[in-house]
Amino acid sequence: MNKSDFWNNVYKSKDIDAVSWYADRLDTSLELIEKNCVQKENTIIDIGSGRSSLAYDLYNLGYNNLTLLDISEEAISQTLNRLGKLPVSIKTIIGNISKITTQENLYGLWHDRAVFHFLTEESQRNKYVQNLKRSLKKNGIAIIATFGPDGPDKCSGLNTMKYDKTTLHAELGDDFQILGSKIDYHQTPFNTSQQFIYCWFKFKIK
Ligand SMILES: C[S@@+](CC[C@H](N)C(=O)[O-])C[C@H]1O[C@@H](n2cnc3c(N)ncnc32)[C@H](O)[C@@H]1O
Repeated sequence: MNKSDFWNNVYKSKDIDAVSWYADRLDTSLELIEKNCVQKENTIIDIGSGRSSLAYDLYNLGYNNLTLLDISEEAISQTLNRLGKLPVSIKTIIGNISKITTQENLYGLWHDRAVFHFLTEESQRNKYVQNLKRSLKKNGIAIIATFGPDGPDKCSGLNTMKYDKTTLHAELGDDFQILGSKIDYHQTPFNTSQQFIYCWFKFKIK
């Protein structure tokens, strides 16, 4: 099964709160976006947006320039249906962030919760970082949340990587300045806890 079929199948077969990464609200993501992206008209892209409520919550906080990217057309379609009648135009991209080429110099903020850690091959991570560098504006912010050092080895049956702030920074390279990091414990709907690490970076060059 290819990757998009795999993820489409997850979203077609499981209820919204029947996946381990489900949260009512991505509180840490929202807190960090508000802290690092004061201008509400800033362009924000959510990589691997899934079915999270982030777009809805950001819209309610006044952010009005959002793009959702996911490999799963089903996830994007379910999210757009849920957002339904919001008077905001949300742009969407269906694609594999390790394969597509994203648009140049477009985003002020790049958010990723729980995608980068699925990239187990170096070539996938290199392509992700190429896209990140291409698309972020100078001084743009990248907020990336992956499994932390004591996080799980797998998610949805797929192998995952684990990072700390040093190893995640090393993946992005010296063009990024690390602004902060935070260990975050996610309570899954199955009453288990998963360790994440959030790191946020500034893109120094262009
Ligand atoms: C664990 S879920 C997290 C969803 C969402 N960020 C959240 O926090 O609720 C991972 C998401 O990334 C998407 N995904 C996985 N690999 C991807 C890739 N290579 N490119 C784009 N999206 C990907 C999946 O379809 C899924 O929606």
